[in-house]
Amino acid sequence: MALSITLFLLASMHFQGSSSSSSLRMGSSLSVENPQHILISPNAIFSAGFVSIGENAYSFAIWFTEPRFHSPNTVTWMANRDQPVNGKRSKLSLTDDGNIVLIDASLITAWSSNTDSLDPVELHLKDDGNLVLHQLQGTVLWQSFDFPTDTLVPGQPLTRYTQLVSSRSESNHSSGFYTFSFDDSNVLGLHYDGPDVSSSYWPQPWLISWDAGRTNFNSSRIGVMNFLGLFNSTDNFTFVTSDYGTVLQRRLKVDCDGNVRVYSRKSVLQKWYVSWQAISSGCTPHGICGPNSFCVYVHASGRKCLCLPGHRLKNHSDWSQGCEPLFQLTCHGNESMFLEIPNVEFYGYDNHYVEVSNYSACENLCLQDCNCKGFQHSYTDDKRFYRCYTKTQLLNGKRSPVFQGTTYLRLPKSNSFSHKQYASEPLYDHVCSVQLQRAYIKTHANRFVKIFLWFSTALGAFEVICAFAIWRLLVWTRQKSNVDREGYHLTETGFRKFSFSELKKATKGFSEEIGRGGGGVVYKGILSDQRHAAIKRLYNAKQGEGEFLAEVGIIGKLNHMNLIEMWGYCAEGKHRLLVYEYMENGSLAENLSSNTLDWRKKYNIALGTARVLAYLHEECLEWILHCDIKPQNILLDSNYEPKLADFGLSKLLNRNNPNNPSISMIRGTRGYMAPEWVFNLPITSKVDVYSYGIVVLEMVTGKSTTRSIHNGEERYDGRVVEWVREKRENSSSCWLKEIIEADIGGDYDDRKMEILSKVALKCVMEDRDSRPTMSQVVEMLQ
Ligand SMILES: *[C@@H]1O[C@H](CO)[C@@H](O)[C@H](O)[C@H]1NC(C)=O
Ligand SMILES: *[C@@H]1O[C@H](CO)[C@@H](O)[C@H](O)[C@H]1NC(C)=O
Ligand SMILES: *[C@@H]1O[C@H](CO)[C@@H](O)[C@H](O)[C@H]1NC(C)=O
Ligand SMILES: *[C@@H]1O[C@H](CO)[C@@H](O)[C@H](O)[C@H]1NC(C)=O
Ligand SMILES: *[C@@H]1O[C@H](CO)[C@@H](O)[C@H](O)[C@H]1NC(C)=O
Ligand SMILES: *[C@@H]1O[C@H](CO)[C@@H](O)[C@H](O)[C@H]1NC(C)=O
Ligand SMILES: *[C@@H]1O[C@H](CO)[C@@H](O)[C@H](O)[C@H]1NC(C)=O
Repeated sequence: MALSITLFLLASMHFQGSSSSSSLRMGSSLSVENPQHILISPNAIFSAGFVSIGENAYSFAIWFTEPRFHSPNTVTWMANRDQPVNGKRSKLSLTDDGNIVLIDASLITAWSSNTDSLDPVELHLKDDGNLVLHQLQGTVLWQSFDFPTDTLVPGQPLTRYTQLVSSRSESNHSSGFYTFSFDDSNVLGLHYDGPDVSSSYWPQPWLISWDAGRTNFNSSRIGVMNFLGLFNSTDNFTFVTSDYGTVLQRRLKVDCDGNVRVYSRKSVLQKWYVSWQAISSGCTPHGICGPNSFCVYVHASGRKCLCLPGHRLKNHSDWSQGCEPLFQLTCHGNESMFLEIPNVEFYGYDNHYVEVSNYSACENLCLQDCNCKGFQHSYTDDKRFYRCYTKTQLLNGKRSPVFQGTTYLRLPKSNSFSHKQYASEPLYDHVCSVQLQRAYIKTHANRFVKIFLWFSTALGAFEVICAFAIWRLLVWTRQKSNVDREGYHLTETGFRKFSFSELKKATKGFSEEIGRGGGGVVYKGILSDQRHAAIKRLYNAKQGEGEFLAEVGIIGKLNHMNLIEMWGYCAEGKHRLLVYEYMENGSLAENLSSNTLDWRKKYNIALGTARVLAYLHEECLEWILHCDIKPQNILLDSNYEPKLADFGLSKLLNRNNPNNPSISMIRGTRGYMAPEWVFNLPITSKVDVYSYGIVVLEMVTGKSTTRSIHNGEERYDGRVVEWVREKRENSSSCWLKEIIEADIGGDYDDRKMEILSKVALKCVMEDRDSRPTMSQVVEMLQ
């Protein structure tokens, strides 16, 4: 395989003479004007030479060798990223005294290795992509691995002396603002180092390193990715790529959007794909939008920045400078007012953080402080008090439909600014958005599914297997060393590996079954620390442990209050188990059939479920569809807060097409499935919106889509949607009363139930484009 690729490369490159060798001798040079003047590593994987990085601007670089007709070069190292040279008469020379110098046409030295040697030396491009200046007897004087640009290749260590620095943009290779390096406390992380402000944003800065799964007691500071796709560093940070194993080429790069990704490809003719990334949410990196502006992430178009009301963009060619106020605040509290900016969060620069009992206490705190630009407040989970943060700077802003706090912006009392000011402003696409492929493929099973469905609609509960692909950006940041760490179970890294015998004991030999479905049987168990858990034993899981771990990692990484929390997993021999938090109040399905929910609880469940779906669809960079929303998969905690279960599980089950591991099978459930599945239309996040609408209609009407109701009453037989629509059209005024479940009685908020019913009807439109997105649903319900 490797040999044939090499041959292919050699054949396609037309070497001329001896100019393309792997070494440069003393006194010779490579010229920018001669495209044949390149070094090629003995295995032909890497090349070094001049690359064009702009109009008449060249850099000396190392890149993955591409077939001649193939574009563009994937650069792994650059000598002079910040000082490109002229396209004429520039050259890189190895001088007689052992220095490598890059001289521009104007005879200015653009870059140099600053080495000297009395003994003969040679510059050699090695098979691993390291460009080495060594004496003929072997001593290394200089090597490119010690001066990385924005990329690490397998085997290249990141050390206390090195850092990766992103480029300014996709097209501008000069040094940007994001760095990937060890900080002073020996922790490897991502940092924003802008012209005016700097901050760290990964691992999450509010976690102490221990809780982020890191240790700061090893000051060796080395991190390296091996050839199989395993990265580990001395702060105990470890991950494996989703394609762990031998692929042709890999590289780890800090991208200009502030994320670190591993890219892989299986042949030189294929495109690079992302096999790991550090951050899963688009607006997480700091510094994207400068002061007084905030970042919005939309799947279709990527990130953009918006100014706060009453502010205008400072510099049209540079969002990182943010926005400036069009007003002046006085120090008198009586001359300010506050404008509510919902779902927008500004990270850091809190002057005060206090717990207060009401809104006006927080407002007063801000008014008493001349430097206070606004405040953010939010409920604590148990809703007994507010958290109040007063802000001296509005930095690192982001809007997210699932952020539950609100920011209040301080403005002069007499102003004419309003929300519309930013909502209607032309949107500005950020200079750097890394486009990720988000293919969503159905298998050929569709024709069969379609026919089968038509025949079986009368057959009662019936599950259809459908297929989908998720672009696999898998994350495995938790390491096994957490296993023994008692006491940190509930933190961010509480995720751990369990042994089979431990789980067997916890479930008393798998004796108490509490549910079935989603590919396994769920048992109740009590863990050694007395926590109650729901333990799912998968029937038919993927056998490979590495792959299973990578898949579990993505699920374990997701974090939302309305997503059921996964505490860990077990992968031992043939056993594959998942450990979840246990939900006292069972599933929504059980609660609906036993009529335990009043309208407030139902409304809250609808809102919470919408929030978590908006999170899965729009917040995560991993584009996740649930594809099996139904009351059985919505669990309720002790406060009747909904928790979505069973998402992502399909990826763990062994129903894969062996030729395409990125296609996994998932089940939909009849009664909740959108028409797209039947009509063989492209599957988008709107399939979840449809299923969600059905669930909400069930909650409102109390009528099941999968159960039929008889004895004198109308029969619904899965036709709840038509039934509600008819009621609405035929009896205009009191349709609500007619559809609402009798058991709720008269005691409900008309307005809210009307909103709920109308939203649900929109969600179940046949035409998927007419259905709202989940974040629109959240907005309507809020
Ligand atoms: C790249 O960005 C740097 C810093 O902003 C700027 O000085 C340089 O002119 C840019 N280069 C190109 C080719 O746009
Ligand atoms: C880090 O990992 C090593 C090896 O996996 C383990 O022995 C050590 O206890 C870990 N340290 C911490 C602080 O977790
Ligand atoms: C990474 O893991 C490998 C194998 O487990 C080990 O040999 C190496 O020392 C580790 N490196 C670091 C920096 O922890
Ligand atoms: C730091 O990590 C390296 C590589 O994992 C290991 O060899 C070394 O012993 C560690 N040092 C300390 C003080 O733990
Ligand atoms: C806007 O930003 C660019 C790039 O950072 C800079 O070159 C330019 O001088 C700035 N313009 C103004 C008016 O500040
Ligand atoms: C606000 O209070 C200050 C002093 O307390 C006073 O000088 C000013 O006139 C007041 N402004 C308004 C608009 O009432
Ligand atoms: C708000 O809380 C403060 C103290 O926290 C209290 O003095 C004040 O009366 C409260 N105001 C209202 C309207 O409840």
